[in-house]
Amino acid sequence: MKDLKSLIDVEKLPQHIAIIMDGNGRWAKKHGQPRVFGHRNGVKAVREATEAAAELGVKYMTLYAFSTENWGRPKAEVNALMTLLVQTIRKEIETMNKNNIKLQAIGDLSQLPSKSYKALQEGIESTKHNTRMTLVLALNYSAKWEIIEAVKSIAQQSKDGKIEPNSITEATFAQALSTNGMPDPELLIRTSGEQRISNFLLWQIAYSELTFLPIYWPEFRREHLYQTIIDFQNRERRFGKTSEQIINSKK
Ligand code: IPE
Ligand code: IPE
Ligand code: MG
Repeated sequence: MKDLKSLIDVEKLPQHIAIIMDGNGRWAKKHGQPRVFGHRNGVKAVREATEAAAELGVKYMTLYAFSTENWGRPKAEVNALMTLLVQTIRKEIETMNKNNIKLQAIGDLSQLPSKSYKALQEGIESTKHNTRMTLVLALNYSAKWEIIEAVKSIAQQSKDGKIEPNSITEATFAQALSTNGMPDPELLIRTSGEQRISNFLLWQIAYSELTFLPIYWPEFRREHLYQTIIDFQNRERRFGKTSEQIINSKK
């Protein structure tokens, strides 16, 4: 494990890593347990990923915890997830403060059950002065919803005469998103073997490196993060240019 970590070039860390934590249900099924058992065991993986990222010096980590589409699951599972959210936040606040990690959230938080919303706000408030890493939970999150909200806000500003339609830039748009102020994720990881985005951060991942891991989320450990970062550092990010241009610009 130590060896893997030492292969990481800390000068070239992704500043922001986004993770689609998928496969809790299938992991539980594999162990002959109800889906909720998988969600509960996913918490350990969250802790591993968060602490490993913070220790390395990653500045932002965004975890997809509940999509707007997830409301369509059986009521008992939704309730269990919301309860788990409250319990986990309450339990982890102390450790987050000890580790100097700031909690943030994106998504339509106003639609969360009031208990979950309250626990979340308490967590955000209590960790707001922490500076080592920001942990962003995507909750009741939908990238299409986020984009529509940005469009509405920009349209309103235009209507109010505060913004000229012709002056709207990518930066204007990025500022209207809930990730305002955060760098775009350079690296997006999805566990469970599924290779899709499921309505996560559509604008922000325009140039992200994607990694799909063939493990279920409760199996995710620090080593998976280390290995993924090592692979990321061995990729050539060309941004539309040629390989020769990239190599020459590094000389
Ligand atoms: C991810 O695991 C957790 C959430 C979506 C809340 P799943 O619950 O989607 O697990 P699978 O994909 O059904 O195995
Ligand atoms: C995506 O996982 C959402 C989260 C991880 C919270 P899903 O399991 O809901 O995604 P789909 O429906 O299989 O695409
Ligand atoms: Mg899933």
